[in-house]
Amino acid sequence: GKVAVLLGGRSAERKISLESGVAVLAALLRCGIDAHAFDPVGQPLDNLLRDGFDRVFIALHGRYGEDGSVQGALELMGMPYTGSGILASALAMDKWRTKMIWQAAGIDTPRYLMLGADSCFDKVAEILGLPMIIKPAREGSTIGLSKVASQQEFQAGYALAVSCDELVMAEQFIDGVELTATILDDEPLPLVRIDVADTLYDYHAKYCSDKTRYTCPSGLSNELTRQIQSIALRAHRVLGCSGWSRVDVMLDKSERPFLLETNTSPGMTDHSLVPMAAKAANISFDELVVKILRLVEQ
Ligand code: DAL
Ligand code: MG
Repeated sequence: GKVAVLLGGRSAERKISLESGVAVLAALLRCGIDAHAFDPVGQPLDNLLRDGFDRVFIALHGRYGEDGSVQGALELMGMPYTGSGILASALAMDKWRTKMIWQAAGIDTPRYLMLGADSCFDKVAEILGLPMIIKPAREGSTIGLSKVASQQEFQAGYALAVSCDELVMAEQFIDGVELTATILDDEPLPLVRIDVADTLYDYHAKYCSDKTRYTCPSGLSNELTRQIQSIALRAHRVLGCSGWSRVDVMLDKSERPFLLETNTSPGMTDHSLVPMAAKAANISFDELVVKILRLVEQ
């Protein structure tokens, strides 16, 4: 049957989603699958039925794509789609609720406070330490995120974050190694280690810089790798994710892992992390894409 690759969308991550979607579409076409791009901006999702699609690969990122809303609409239409369902998508989009679930499950995540316009820098700094991270609770690709160390930066960081989302989170900064763990079909893939030229793996470091270094497999000991992979699998399960997900992890100086967030529709661009992890497991990009699609049919 005909597969629609949902791409673009109206989130702040639209540009990244267009890249992910085009890469996914090309892979499906190379594999002889009748696939077409479908941007939900400017046309109703119902057109999927009108145009005779029978499955959807979701390559949307962020709100109205990764947050359960499109998943809900597709369920109503009876249109099968890749990845997580409504609840897991909505939970994972919200870093606050994600943390509450993980904490209840005994999974370590950095300390945090939700901020309001009247939050006091000194009090927040006392609890979280400095520097700290300020970010919108429901955004992706580190959009709206700042690392702050002073009252002035705190205020600017809050203003930036609240311009993206009314839910703003301050989070303890974990000084250490950044890793990411992919779950594919209920199996962890090799970890990717990320080393940035500056101190933050931000939007620029993710998509623009050629100084960001990726190592996969990560070079960590087998024991630590297995430990992190098993936590990542638990994190995937307690959120109720399906098919695939990628969880971002900070390893502190004593090698204790702290989970930051889960992405239920991770980036699939040619410099994205899930394809890197798959490659290290001898799964080509094309095989990865087809595998994610096939998981829908089970
Ligand atoms: N939110 C971006 C696309 C990612 O997690 O890869
Ligand atoms: Mg994310």
